[in-house]
Amino acid sequence: MSEHSANPSSATAATGRSRAVKAVIPAAGLATRFLPATKAVPKELLPVVDRPVLQYIVEEATQAGIGDVLLITGRGKTSMVDHFDRRPDLEARLEAKGDTERLAAVRGPSELAEIYTCRQPEQLGLGHAVGYAESHVGDQPFAVLLGDEFVKPAEPLLPAMLELQARTGGVVLAFFEVDPAETKRYGIASVEPAEAELTDIGEVVRVTGMVEKPTPEDAPSNLAVLGRYVLPSSIFDAIRRTKPGSGGEIQLTDAMELLRGEGTPVHAIVYRGTRYDTGMPLGYLQTVVQIAAERDDLGTEFRTWLAEFVKTDASGVTGT
Ligand code: UTP
Repeated sequence: MSEHSANPSSATAATGRSRAVKAVIPAAGLATRFLPATKAVPKELLPVVDRPVLQYIVEEATQAGIGDVLLITGRGKTSMVDHFDRRPDLEARLEAKGDTERLAAVRGPSELAEIYTCRQPEQLGLGHAVGYAESHVGDQPFAVLLGDEFVKPAEPLLPAMLELQARTGGVVLAFFEVDPAETKRYGIASVEPAEAELTDIGEVVRVTGMVEKPTPEDAPSNLAVLGRYVLPSSIFDAIRRTKPGSGGEIQLTDAMELLRGEGTPVHAIVYRGTRYDTGMPLGYLQTVVQIAAERDDLGTEFRTWLAEFVKTDASGVTGT
């Protein structure tokens, strides 16, 4: 097990509610924005330097004190689960060679958390995928981490979300600010200030509505939904009552809106940290470059090369 930096038991003496201790990672999507790479390889396994995206996401959960992770997978995506299994044959070979560094790297993922898995048989939307977590999660609140997005480990978001959910008992989301001209790419929220709430990582707002991909003229704000949610178990019943919405899919947003309309409080943290979006090629490239540039082992060499590349080849001035 990895070292947990957060303390779940500190949660909520005041409210008597406990902090979520399970996470669900819906990763059954078809990843059409990254074809053809994702025809045979799940986008969650694309490498960011030398670790798959999914490992960063599971690490984010464990750093927030979560030790139980359910991966929702689909056809052709079971290799994601293998990444968190042991590889005795490989381990024996590395051990025999005395390669302790690589041995630790191979064992690391299997020691992060208890990993469980279930399959979404048809890709009928994020809400539909989350619905498959019901029997694993039971009647407790839980976190949802989308499988193609993560935040900088030094600027964690999830602990503050878990804490806030334990206080409110409702739905807790996270937002990030986007260029107002780009609202069409995101789910956008309308918000009002929450009663005197502030976290280390960003201000807390009360959510009064959500719109999928509005034009800049129709957008109620420039706050876009980030792929982290902490949800009460009442979301499962709401998902069952949610009809297919945009794209014919059962949308998590619609199920959350149903709960909000029935009086469940919905809050969000406006995250001011660094978010990496690996769901399509440009964001993926930016992520790889940023993480590589910050790595202790290869950052210096990589930055030197990158600066030189940008100065020469990339501008086409002295390209070969
Ligand atoms: P996306 O909207 O990013 O869809 O889903 P996608 O299929 O992954 O990628 P594109 O848009 O076709 O390129 C958001 C999250 O919800 C999961 C995805 O795996 C992703 O983590 N998801 C989506 C499911 O698990 N099942 C679904 O039916 C839909």
